[in-house]
Amino acid sequence: MTSYIPEPQVTVLDTGGQYCHLIARKVRELGVYAEVRPSETPANTLKRRKAIIISGGPNSVYEAGSPTVDAAIFSLGTPVLGICYGQQLMAHLLGGQVRKGDKGEYGLALLEMGAREELFQGLSGSQQIWMSHRDTVAEAPPGFRVTGHTGTCAVAAMSDGSRRLYGVQFHPEVVHTSRGTEILSNFLFRISECERDWNPKHRLPLIEDRIREVVGGRNVFFFVSGGVDSTVAFTLCVRALGHERARGIYVDTGLMREGETEFVRSVFEKLDSGAFEVCTAQEQFLSALQGVHDPEQKRQIIGEEFVRIQDRIIDAHHFLDEHWILGQGTIYPDTIESGGTEKAAVIKTHHNRVPGIRRLLEANRIVEPLSFFYKDEVREVGRELGLPEEMLERHPFPGPGLAIRCLCSETEAPVREVEDGWIVPVRSVGVQGDSRSYAPVLALHRSPSSREDLHTIATEMINRLPGVNRIVAYVAGHSPLTRLRVTASWLSPERLARLRRVDEIVRRLSHDSGFDRTVWQFPVILIPAGADGRPDSVVLRPVHSVDGMTARSVAMDPVLLETIATRLLDVAGVCAVFFDLTHKPPATIEWE
Ligand code: XMP
Repeated sequence: MTSYIPEPQVTVLDTGGQYCHLIARKVRELGVYAEVRPSETPANTLKRRKAIIISGGPNSVYEAGSPTVDAAIFSLGTPVLGICYGQQLMAHLLGGQVRKGDKGEYGLALLEMGAREELFQGLSGSQQIWMSHRDTVAEAPPGFRVTGHTGTCAVAAMSDGSRRLYGVQFHPEVVHTSRGTEILSNFLFRISECERDWNPKHRLPLIEDRIREVVGGRNVFFFVSGGVDSTVAFTLCVRALGHERARGIYVDTGLMREGETEFVRSVFEKLDSGAFEVCTAQEQFLSALQGVHDPEQKRQIIGEEFVRIQDRIIDAHHFLDEHWILGQGTIYPDTIESGGTEKAAVIKTHHNRVPGIRRLLEANRIVEPLSFFYKDEVREVGRELGLPEEMLERHPFPGPGLAIRCLCSETEAPVREVEDGWIVPVRSVGVQGDSRSYAPVLALHRSPSSREDLHTIATEMINRLPGVNRIVAYVAGHSPLTRLRVTASWLSPERLARLRRVDEIVRRLSHDSGFDRTVWQFPVILIPAGADGRPDSVVLRPVHSVDGMTARSVAMDPVLLETIATRLLDVAGVCAVFFDLTHKPPATIEWE
């Protein structure tokens, strides 16, 4: 049988950076199947690989407990490329010197190439690269040559061609390194002799065979969310097994966006109506959330209600008996715990890998047709299945839905003037290092359409102001900023309906203008701050991101911003419109 997934030619060893999946995705985009493994994976299990890449990571090689690699990988004869921390680890383990940095270097730099270098074949002169590091290699290990430097980094690239070991301090996998793809391509094809063996397209028959093999004579049930992953996974199961043997259940929590349930239903009805079912549970969710203000408590209640409903559905349909197994839209990054080394603390366990699910997996009671695919690859599969582009290109949307974009307050208070602007006493969630903040917002009495670069001003301010984790600009309003007052409020049906209206208006205008295709995500938030009989205001939060871990607030065309603001101020109960200027960190993408 042609294999459903090829044996990986390349292993990316994860030293805890957010870049490891980006590297593996880039390698796959070049047509070479790659996997991600913990950094300390024993070398003897990697003997069949054609190439090994050590990823970047946030640690320092000299700190106790920092991720390391099995040094035997350097004598397998397999080409190894160390990127950023990967290069430092290579230097450290092979007898070079790494220097601790305190400020580091983050951003664009120019790489000056030194001696002739296979890795840089086809490139000449100086090249734009992306740097993101604290420590640097001070001295390359014996046998290595320095093959590139920048104004501030003496060893920006090094290699030992005879042993086929290569290191770069910069990040060839990110778009800001303009010729990064060629550098990776040189490593894969010139140096490592990889073959092109991977294309997510034309795999439908193989995936469907695999589903039939795992499921055997049983049936599959899914909880579908309307997101890309569960939609594609469920569609594959319906095709592989027929609609009698696949059941998709969608829970309408009442916390969805305008028209969401109808949209999801229309997608599945085109596919095969018999397999899809909507479970209506708005009342259950809304009554459990009545009077609740605290964001964590909201999340917990929503999670618990979800489990309660799932249990009820499972019982009612006898889904736990031997005739059924659970289907999930888990994708590749969800199966890999972040943390870098097996010993390191797990930063986040994905909800598709909690203990109950693990037990089902071990008992062969789960089918996950996409667990080897990245998101972009899932979209390719979805395209081949004929799913609508509108579904495949959706921005990420959080599970708890509008509940985390409808802010609540237990107390009442007016806005308060401070030196730099006005404190709006609505607290929102932020992130600093590994910890969470929950702090009020600073509003600037200036519209982002004014000439100043408000993003730069906000970034400078937020580092200076203690006790604030976000800065917003006042765009327009029925009442001046100075009159706004925060009122006690929770997730009432009226406020949720208001958020649904404003979210729909922004979504439509941002789609029609093409703006939505230029951003990664565009949350619209309702905050309980208003005046003169209009209790709420709207915050616009378009962001750029790669994976949601960090994000940058995006500037918006002033004409579009004004059009959106004017339309939003027509909605009953909306007092003012703000624009969030804060990056993540110190803010988060959602407000909660
Ligand atoms: P934050 O707000 O933490 O969000 O910067 C990062 C990304 O995660 C999404 N998000 C969620 N997605 N379930 C999800 O499926 C959730 O509970 C959840 N909370 C946040 C958020 O929309 C952003 O893309």
